[in-house]
Amino acid sequence: MQNNTISFRVQPGGTLRGEARVPGDKSISHRSIMLGALAEGTTRVTGFLEAEDCLATMNAFRAMGVEIEGPENGRVCIQGVGLHGLRAPKDPLYLGNSGTSMRLLCGLLAGQHFDSVLTGDVSLSRRPMKRVTEPLRSMGAVVETTETGTAPLKIKAGGGLRGIRYDMPVASAQVKSCLLLAGLYGVGQTCVREPAPTRDHTERMLAGFSYPVDRKGDTVCIQPDGKLVACDIDVPSDISSAAFFMVGAAIAEGADVTLQHVGINPTRTGVLDILRLMDADIQVLNTREMGGEPVADIRIRSSRLRGVEIPEELVPLAIDEFPVLFVAAACAEGETRLTGAEELRVKESDRIQVMADGLRILGIDAQPTPDGMIVRGGKLSGGRINSHGDHRIAMAFSMAALRAGGSIEIEDCANVNTSFPGFVELARKMGLNITAICGEIL
Ligand code: S3P
Repeated sequence: MQNNTISFRVQPGGTLRGEARVPGDKSISHRSIMLGALAEGTTRVTGFLEAEDCLATMNAFRAMGVEIEGPENGRVCIQGVGLHGLRAPKDPLYLGNSGTSMRLLCGLLAGQHFDSVLTGDVSLSRRPMKRVTEPLRSMGAVVETTETGTAPLKIKAGGGLRGIRYDMPVASAQVKSCLLLAGLYGVGQTCVREPAPTRDHTERMLAGFSYPVDRKGDTVCIQPDGKLVACDIDVPSDISSAAFFMVGAAIAEGADVTLQHVGINPTRTGVLDILRLMDADIQVLNTREMGGEPVADIRIRSSRLRGVEIPEELVPLAIDEFPVLFVAAACAEGETRLTGAEELRVKESDRIQVMADGLRILGIDAQPTPDGMIVRGGKLSGGRINSHGDHRIAMAFSMAALRAGGSIEIEDCANVNTSFPGFVELARKMGLNITAICGEIL
């Protein structure tokens, strides 16, 4: 199922200029399908991310009998089947590269009256699933994993779930969302406490579907047996995709980029805070609210970045942006230190090791640590990088070419389509000299 025959070649120099709307938010797009499917009535989504990860979620719900039209130009129409209307899928549900699909679906499926099996690609089959299966078991779910706690996940129709109070050991929105979805089916209340704030799209969207969610401080609680009422969802642009162009514009000479309609949910804006600490020239303009999520246009211009110690409380709020933030650090004056980010080691790749290896190939002093990295800003050379099939690594190193002394070749880039279809075309339009090549670079 894996296609690793696309490489990127990016010529050095150039700049980024102009206005762009990057594709829809991945986290919100997944949730729009899940909650739309469980709602009563028709949910219409605009701005949906037509990328492999979200299509995997969509196909899983189709396989469970949900009628979904689209996607067409970001439009999707879901005929909700209600909380108890899903049907047993005939085959295992293949979720590709998508951790969000697997972890959230695991919670939702634990509450169904049918068996199901969740599988994924090589990367997803290596990622830790005990973080969801253990609390689900304490709710009464019957879920089997491999011996090491990885997929395939075999979920059995059990004797019913009971609500729990769960203190999450890791700050994870996927774990929180998994348990809230299972909590829709438990007996009694389910409460999840987070050690640090994580993205709250599930809670916001449940409220948008008229399902009460109770937040008190660091704990969010849900009661079972309510109902979700269909609604319209306008998905903002993904700040995690915008981040590549923000860093690109900050590090390039003479750059001036405006990214339109970007979601600026405060549980996602760590990248803005970190870039501002690094002295990036960023303006957040025209802030507005769209269907329960704050949105703005973000303008960013060439900046003289400086190295910083990244405050640990910002880590969960920027968790997907570190690959490109390491590129910013490589172009900054002085040292940048990241700590408290061991989660990066269990993303689509080990993002600490893979980024440190790549930066070193480009001549940067990057020292990986168990929970972060120390990067000393310097002069980037060209070189050949292996992205290890990780979309965000591929896009981060593409931007590095704006400041490199030679061309950068990046291998194994097909998975950019899991989150950012059209990345190469948009990056070219904005001024990056990037080409996608089918087949390995020799
Ligand atoms: C996501 C949560 C984050 C993030 C992932 C998407 C979500 O994972 O890294 O890309 O949609 O809930 P964790 O919650 O595991 O940190």
